[in-house]
Amino acid sequence: MKKLLITGGAGFIGSHVVRRFVSSYPDYRIYNLDKLTYAGNLENLRDVEKQSNYEFVKGDITDAAFIDALFAQHRFEGVIHLAAESHVDRSISNPLEFVMTNVVGTVNLLNAARKTWLNKETPVSGARFYHVSTDEVYGSLGEEGLFTEKTSYDPHSPYSASKASSDHFVRAYCDTYGLPAVISNCSNNYGSFHFPEKLIPLAIHNIKNKKPIPVYGKGENVRDWLFVEDHARAIDVIFHKGKNGETYNIGGNNEWKNIDLIRLLCEIMDRKLNRASGESAKLISFVLDRAGHDLRYAIDSSKLQNELGWKPSLRFEEGLEKTVEWYLANEAWLNNVTSGDYKKYYEGQYAKR
Ligand code: NAD
Ligand code: DAU
Repeated sequence: MKKLLITGGAGFIGSHVVRRFVSSYPDYRIYNLDKLTYAGNLENLRDVEKQSNYEFVKGDITDAAFIDALFAQHRFEGVIHLAAESHVDRSISNPLEFVMTNVVGTVNLLNAARKTWLNKETPVSGARFYHVSTDEVYGSLGEEGLFTEKTSYDPHSPYSASKASSDHFVRAYCDTYGLPAVISNCSNNYGSFHFPEKLIPLAIHNIKNKKPIPVYGKGENVRDWLFVEDHARAIDVIFHKGKNGETYNIGGNNEWKNIDLIRLLCEIMDRKLNRASGESAKLISFVLDRAGHDLRYAIDSSKLQNELGWKPSLRFEEGLEKTVEWYLANEAWLNNVTSGDYKKYYEGQYAKR
């Protein structure tokens, strides 16, 4: 069995990637390494946790000795690295945590992969390190244009600076040591298991509970939204068919101003909750803008589409409706995540590594 390490598999995107790989590749053994921070939740993986080709490992990517020992023990043949601190607002309050996890954690994984795969006595052939990154490394667009793989890096938040730095380290390990690695930079994801500190799940949660929906500034910032299962499918395609040393942009070709997206969400929620049309929109509340708030992100994913044959599958209106339905049907998940009860439970269960 091919041993594959997925980091951050208990988070939002990671759980979709783990689910896809565990179900689609019975000949792979999937190790999900996750620290279970506030954003990591094993409830996200209930449907796959008993599969014989799946194993959960609790651990911290900033712990170099632990990461080295894990690689020495399993000699993984592939890594899909998603573990990260991922929320821009948190990075503004606590940048160092982002440096530690996103930069130091990534370098620890690169070092362990290099030592295991490239040593002269017992090298591992055909291995690949896949680094999952973000479009935020490219900075902010004006009204026109798209980010391509050739766009210069220009990060503005501590989060995007830490992701940009980790991307540079991955390329440096490719060029300096010949580490077989590939990177993708994706736009904003949405879908099930999304932690309700991010715009869409936060707004769904607040609308449901008739609480104000905080819209930063005038709500004019634009994001390019992609259904999370389409991202997981892109990761599958790139992991198997991408070329080492290359970068692939992933996006939904689906730009929305925040305020227009929130208005659409309010309409869907009114319908689903049998509220009068326009009732949820009364909850919209314009609040102080995010510091350094990037105006517009938009991805040109033609390289991935033309070279590897991937394209997004869902219309946004359809994907958003599915997402709302999932949150309304999974009230217990949302309540647990917002109360933090799940954390206490798992801290007890996995206190010792
Ligand atoms: P998330 O915050 O939902 O999940 C992150 C996961 O990493 C959690 O399970 C957490 O417990 C784990 N983790 C954090 N620190 C760790 C550590 N020190 N050791 C081990 N595990 C740790 O994040 P997400 O939104 O699923 O994003 C996953 C990846 O995709 C990130 O690298 C992010 O930069 C990237 N990305 C996210 C988006 C998006 O829209 N969410 C878009 C493009 C790229
Ligand atoms: O572009 C990819 C990135 O998308 C990922 O790399 C990040 O991990 C992910 O968190 C996301 O970053 P954003 O900052 O774009 O996502 P967020 O959901 O935090 O915000 C989306 C937009 O909505 C952004 O313009 C800020 C705004 N916003 C956000 C929140 C949480 C609000 O107006 N109100 C809010 O309460």
